[in-house]
Amino acid sequence: MHIAVIGLSHRTAPVEVRERLSITDETLPSSLRSLLAVQEVQEASILSTCNRLEIYALLRHADAVATIAHFLSEHSGLPAAELRPHLFVLRHEEAIDHLLRVAAGLDSLVQGEGQILAQVKKMARLGQEHKSTGPILGRLLNQAVSTGKRVRSETRLGTGAVSISSAAVELAQLKCAQERGEQQPVGLAEEQVAVVGCGRMGRLLVQHLAAKGCTALTLVNRTTARAEALARDFPQLAIRCVGLEKLDEELRRASMVFTSTAAAIPMLTRSRLERLAPIHRLKLFDIGVPRNITADVAAVDGVAAYDVDDLKEVVARNQEARQAEAKVAEGLVHQDAEDFLTWWDGLEAVPVLNRLRRNLDQVREQELLKALSRMGPDLSAREKNVVEALSKGIINKVLHGPVTRLRGPMERQKRLEQLQVVCELFDLDQVETS
Ligand SMILES: NC(=O)c1ccc[n+]([C@@H]2O[C@H](COP(=O)([O-])OP(=O)(O)OC[C@H]3O[C@@H](n4cnc5c(N)ncnc54)[C@H](OP(=O)(O)O)[C@@H]3O)[C@@H](O)[C@H]2O)c1
Repeated sequence: MHIAVIGLSHRTAPVEVRERLSITDETLPSSLRSLLAVQEVQEASILSTCNRLEIYALLRHADAVATIAHFLSEHSGLPAAELRPHLFVLRHEEAIDHLLRVAAGLDSLVQGEGQILAQVKKMARLGQEHKSTGPILGRLLNQAVSTGKRVRSETRLGTGAVSISSAAVELAQLKCAQERGEQQPVGLAEEQVAVVGCGRMGRLLVQHLAAKGCTALTLVNRTTARAEALARDFPQLAIRCVGLEKLDEELRRASMVFTSTAAAIPMLTRSRLERLAPIHRLKLFDIGVPRNITADVAAVDGVAAYDVDDLKEVVARNQEARQAEAKVAEGLVHQDAEDFLTWWDGLEAVPVLNRLRRNLDQVREQELLKALSRMGPDLSAREKNVVEALSKGIINKVLHGPVTRLRGPMERQKRLEQLQVVCELFDLDQVETS
């Protein structure tokens, strides 16, 4: 059996590729079904966030990664040759280590952010609900969740943690500062700000905007009632709430617009903004993936536009301070990955040991029959039972030591070699190694 992860992330693919691959809650069940329909895929789960699309799989055959890459190409509509340079494939220890790092927030664009742990938890829950994960992947996902929690409780990686939304607000502050020829982020008290989208990200945006001194705030949402409910949680701010149909009005009024909707197609395009001309000064910050704003809006006079990939500019500023904590977190991840591997490797011995026990049992039964027939018909039932128990007892005693050792902690390669030797000596079917 092989554990592998195939996918792409903010490290390997720009947002224009990532958005083509995102799998929504609605399409997740059918995607899982397609993956499990592949004969070599025994268990599968999907992690789809704004920064990554990763498929974790337990494979009967290592070559099945090619089939999964093909699935990704079909799903995104991107030809395999175009997709391939952005894909990464990690196997076994590396795949396990990667998932645990992801859950810990070590692979996030904003290191230590908390959203990813919630997303890994959701992946674990959906895997169970859709029965796409079983004993091995299910345990790995649970391990990832507990490693994510452990890193957050035993290190300060997540303390004062930044998130995509706080990074977007900080980028806005930085851009305002740069406009004034300053280097350090400035307050947003003078900005007319609109937030489009009032889900989880919208809420975080409002929190961070409030913390940075923003007072003139409008919430724009498809469902106005949801915007109003969000506004009620910030009584200290004078927030206006409008429906999406008023977006153009808000674009005219605002100096800064943040978009964070889960809409599948962009709502702000170059032609829409051109119809609003002249625009004096408008900064757009889009944290949606798929993007809510098309890249070509930057060509409109007076408009500056930024997407999630542009957040790298502020993220790098915060990353240095987290290096020491990240090192400690890496150590914890490594320990947990080793523990999982030890458990799994022990499990790999089970099929071989079962076959060995079956073979020895067959021999025992044959020899028992011979012995009983030699002893003649006068043997009582009790005596027969004693002889049978003796034969079983010998097998159990002989197997106890080797079974305990082969299932116990041992370096992976050594275990595989020893299992191979058992197979050869007892003429068992070939043991599968990775
Ligand atoms: N969650 C994260 O960690 C994270 C991080 C970075 C970026 N993002 C991205 O941010 C975006 C929002 O994520 P979220 O977690 O905040 O989602 P969410 O909690 O599900 O909220 C979705 C928001 O999008 C709106 N929406 C959905 N479909 C729409 C449509 N067709 N037209 C207009 N509005 C629509 C919803 O409006 P209603 O209230 O009317 O339903 C709601 O305001 C996504 O693109 C996501 O990829 C998420």
